[in-house]
Amino acid sequence: MEINGYKILSPLRENRKGISKWGFAEKDGDEYFIKEFSSPIYPIKRDDLSEEQIMEEITVCKKFQEERGKLYRAISECVSGNIVPVYEFFRDKGNYYITTDKIEGKPLTLDEMKKMSPYQKLLVTRILAYSLGLLHSRGIVYGNIEPRNILFSKSQGGVYTAKLIDFDSSFFVDNPPKDESAFTSNLNYLAPECHLYMSGEDEKITTKADVFSLGIFLHLFWSGEMPIFNYDEYEYPFEAVLCGEELDFSREMPRGVAVVLNQMLRKNPNDRPSLSSVFMALAKINFDK
Ligand SMILES: Nc1ncnc2c1ncn2[C@@H]1O[C@H](COP(=O)(O)OP(=O)(O)OP(=O)(O)O)[C@@H](O)[C@H]1O
Ligand SMILES: [Mg+2]
Repeated sequence: MEINGYKILSPLRENRKGISKWGFAEKDGDEYFIKEFSSPIYPIKRDDLSEEQIMEEITVCKKFQEERGKLYRAISECVSGNIVPVYEFFRDKGNYYITTDKIEGKPLTLDEMKKMSPYQKLLVTRILAYSLGLLHSRGIVYGNIEPRNILFSKSQGGVYTAKLIDFDSSFFVDNPPKDESAFTSNLNYLAPECHLYMSGEDEKITTKADVFSLGIFLHLFWSGEMPIFNYDEYEYPFEAVLCGEELDFSREMPRGVAVVLNQMLRKNPNDRPSLSSVFMALAKINFDK
């Protein structure tokens, strides 16, 4: 099977939310990751729709194409080597697709996290703060920090590096998703204000939502476990925070890192530091090689 010149290497598989399908493909001798969006669908040969309905659907598609195109272009200008930008965004028949370079990397297992040295963890932490900070400096909220979206690889010298993938949930600060289910990918990492927004409250979602989510991920990354809260009472960190609890940290967490995470995990987005401040704070921490 071929889509827009991409030879599909195995059947595309449905993602967890059922809103896209993904797999790998080959074009001109190179391998790519390819994703097919389940909506919107461009109306082609739709005898079941009135002319008016067809025009409406075309308008939705044009808006999608324009908005996502603008976002993907802005992301590809964030050159860091640790952000995997969209290579092509196109429509083939009724469906929209994106492709990106295929990355040799995998989400880190808990075991790998536990084994990594503090020195290496600090390098990765700086990479993530810097890369997400680049998106933020362009007014882009990443919107989907979770372990599956950070692919790690190890060089021959044994040094880890991390790459950020999956910009499906990203948006410009001034154009947040209208869809109420927008932030449901992984509730463990959800910022409290995103939950309020999804419940219909008048909340503005800013880049500080990523700061919270990254704070949760970094807790897991540094300690191998989630932040500690009253598990009998709450299922997710954002629930505990919304009810006024402070998240506790694992004893495995180095003190200097815990100080930064504590600020990143504050309830009020305005009280959280920007990622450039986080980056500066991390620069003052040192571990032996
Ligand atoms: N550029 C890439 N190179 C190699 N593997 C990739 C790449 N992009 C994504 N993947 C793999 O495909 C998986 C799904 O990609 P992505 O995160 O974009 O989709 P998703 O909608 O979140 O899918 P799912 O819900 O199934 O995780 C990733 O978890 C990763 O393992
Ligand atoms: Mg993903």
